[in-house]
Amino acid sequence: MSDVKILAIESSCDETAASVVLNGRTVLSNVISSQIDIHTLYGGVVPEIASRKHTERINRVIRESLTQAGMKLSDVDAVAVTYGPGLVGALLVGVSFAKGLAYAAGKPLIAVHHIEGHISANYIDHPELEPPFPCLVVSGGHTHLVRVKDYGEYEVLGMSRDDAAGEAFDKVARAIGLGYPGGPKIDKVSDEGNPEAIDFPRAKVGDSEYDFSFSGLKSAVLNYLNSAKMQGIEISQSDVAASFQKAVVDVLTEHAMLALDKNGDKKFAIAGGVASNRHLREAMEKECAKRDIVFYRPAPIYCTDNAAMIGAAAYYEYLKGEFAGPDLNAVPNLRLGQRS
Ligand code: KG4
Ligand code: ZN
Repeated sequence: MSDVKILAIESSCDETAASVVLNGRTVLSNVISSQIDIHTLYGGVVPEIASRKHTERINRVIRESLTQAGMKLSDVDAVAVTYGPGLVGALLVGVSFAKGLAYAAGKPLIAVHHIEGHISANYIDHPELEPPFPCLVVSGGHTHLVRVKDYGEYEVLGMSRDDAAGEAFDKVARAIGLGYPGGPKIDKVSDEGNPEAIDFPRAKVGDSEYDFSFSGLKSAVLNYLNSAKMQGIEISQSDVAASFQKAVVDVLTEHAMLALDKNGDKKFAIAGGVASNRHLREAMEKECAKRDIVFYRPAPIYCTDNAAMIGAAAYYEYLKGEFAGPDLNAVPNLRLGQRS
């Protein structure tokens, strides 16, 4: 089969991104225009602003991705786009643009699930990785322990009952005065803190082995901060950050290892923005090494939102001939494994 070049577009949250990916594994360009500096002013993503910024930037970002790949639109074999889950207005910018491009250039259109994109980021840089394998997806909106049965086929083993792991990072960071986005800031400030300083709870979800819950942990941090304030005790930002982070990493690692031990898997992957966390990567690496399991994780730039991961996932849809029509719509609450 001849080479397949896919132009992929991602606009589900606050990154406007475009990428050209060759055969699902080789990134020819990866352009990301982040809006973090704007949303930081408001302490989180403001959906209306996100949509407007995507509209302003998407044309330039796509042009730049083609230029960096040394291509024209006519050179690509398909146009792929994230159609959910995410912020509806933000998604619509990418979906509408992709539909217009595909129609104008006479190229097939591929609709990609954002979480499937995160998982597929592991195919970049790891040419030997093939399903089946279990994958822990930890992002700002999702905490899913998933079995990747085949390309495009997923079974959800467990998920968060309340806050996503990234959301907990962002909320705790705000509470201790680190601001948005919380994950990278907690990751950094934890280097100076003691992870054993405060014994925050590791939540168990009664009736499920693999489900997660982070709202109790978040409340425990808030209670700790409030009682310290009432007693006039000065808190150590880095100790709170490090202890909170350790609690999250412990729970994520414990659940993932439980699944690996039960199912006898020999490979395991992580994905999503929180997967760029150094402490999580280290803990997973260590536990996998103990069990002789090959541990896969995307390079940090492919953990947080990007379009290269969308191009990687789209390749397998292209091979199956799964194309979207001009009626493709954004689906903000799209579930993994759901097609629409
Ligand atoms: O995957 P992503 O870029 O967007 C979503 O699909 O949600 O994930 C963003 C989330 C944010 O909550 C951010 O705080 C978190 O990932 N994050 C991190 C780190 N880098 C990003 N969390 C912990 N440690 C990090 N280094
Ligand atoms: Zn994401």
